[in-house]
Amino acid sequence: MPSLPTVPSAPSAPLDVLGVPGEINLDYAASAPCARAAADAVAELLPWYASVHRGAGALSRRCTLEYEQARQTIGDFFGARADDHVIFTRNTTDALNLLARAVPAGTTVVTFAGEHHANLLPWPRGSVRLPVPSHPDGAVRDLAAALTELRRGSSPALPVLVAVTGASNVTGERWPVAELARVAHRHGARIVLDAAQLAPHAPVDLLALDVDYLAVSGHKLYAPFGAGVLIGRADWLDTAPPYLAGGGATSHVGPATHDVTWATGPARHEGGTPNLLGAVALAAVCKALDEADQGALAAHEQALLARLRTGLAALPHVVELRTFGPDAPRVGIVSFVVAGWDSTEVATRLAAEHHIGVRDGLFCAHPLARRLLAEAAGRTGRRDLPPTALRASIGLGSTAAQVDRLLAALAELG
Ligand SMILES: Cc1ncc(COP(=O)(O)O)c(C=O)c1O
Repeated sequence: MPSLPTVPSAPSAPLDVLGVPGEINLDYAASAPCARAAADAVAELLPWYASVHRGAGALSRRCTLEYEQARQTIGDFFGARADDHVIFTRNTTDALNLLARAVPAGTTVVTFAGEHHANLLPWPRGSVRLPVPSHPDGAVRDLAAALTELRRGSSPALPVLVAVTGASNVTGERWPVAELARVAHRHGARIVLDAAQLAPHAPVDLLALDVDYLAVSGHKLYAPFGAGVLIGRADWLDTAPPYLAGGGATSHVGPATHDVTWATGPARHEGGTPNLLGAVALAAVCKALDEADQGALAAHEQALLARLRTGLAALPHVVELRTFGPDAPRVGIVSFVVAGWDSTEVATRLAAEHHIGVRDGLFCAHPLARRLLAEAAGRTGRRDLPPTALRASIGLGSTAAQVDRLLAALAELG
């Protein structure tokens, strides 16, 4: 084993996460562990648990207040503009599906083929899927070319929405969001950021990035109580049909079948009793992150990531998957294959023999994962790479000892 990059000690509370001693969780990108701040906020509110927006009692009034304060906290954390809506959803998939239903008729959505299925599949027919570039600059160039072409087309005035991830769930590589937003706006398009994988690792500010919409999942952000959000411009959202028609989404319902006036604002799309505990848990994490030294957290994660990648690179039977090249900026996610080994078999052995949890498969990003597996085979000239991959992902609470345990376990497979 080569000498691995050292890792400074982790910044401590207020951001500890829960876990089970002896179990090594290296699967944060699927669902991160629960932050103590989220668990505490939920535990504190539970005795008060009652209806939201539906009761005059003291409990209900407190719950309504907590729900709306959570909306404010989360909006502020993500840099929402004063007139943006912050709409609670179940997760990122739900948030992007909501936006897909809210785009005006005739909107063309432009994505890259490297997206997670949640940012590929909801978009209407006629969406444009650009090939995955081999460099972040290529993404900016390709988007500019595609938008120029669209604006030259038969309906140059129709709305265009660019949908892009902040960080790949397969490779952890960061996408040039601010540059893509600039290009989108230069061509009169809007842009939605899928921040599911970026937000757990880096500050995401809607205003600073100048994106129009942002989608995020609580369970990937240490708040596993079933809430996500869509944040963004009010106009499309206030004129779209309600995402969930029902109680709470209306301002008036008359006796005739179609005599309904739908609410405007977040309520329009939040029909039914909302997920109070999910909202409060997510807000608690946002608050804790706000109060933490996020620079120190990121530095610690990057040191761990460097140790992991250096260790993997030293194993001759392990091949990393990547889109943009070895030195592209990335968050704490690495996908790789073990030559000659089925990835499910490796994941199963890591769990059974070493108590290490990783993900295997194509990571709900089949077009990208398949492409990167083919690229890895071409780059290495190896014919014994499996058809699916493994993914290790880290975050708050991850340690150098855990990384070393994974590396040692993989070394045994050589
Ligand atoms: C980049 C990205 N976008 C969207 C999603 C969907 O998130 P969720 O399953 O929480 O809806 C994921 C989940 O892995 C993801 O990694």
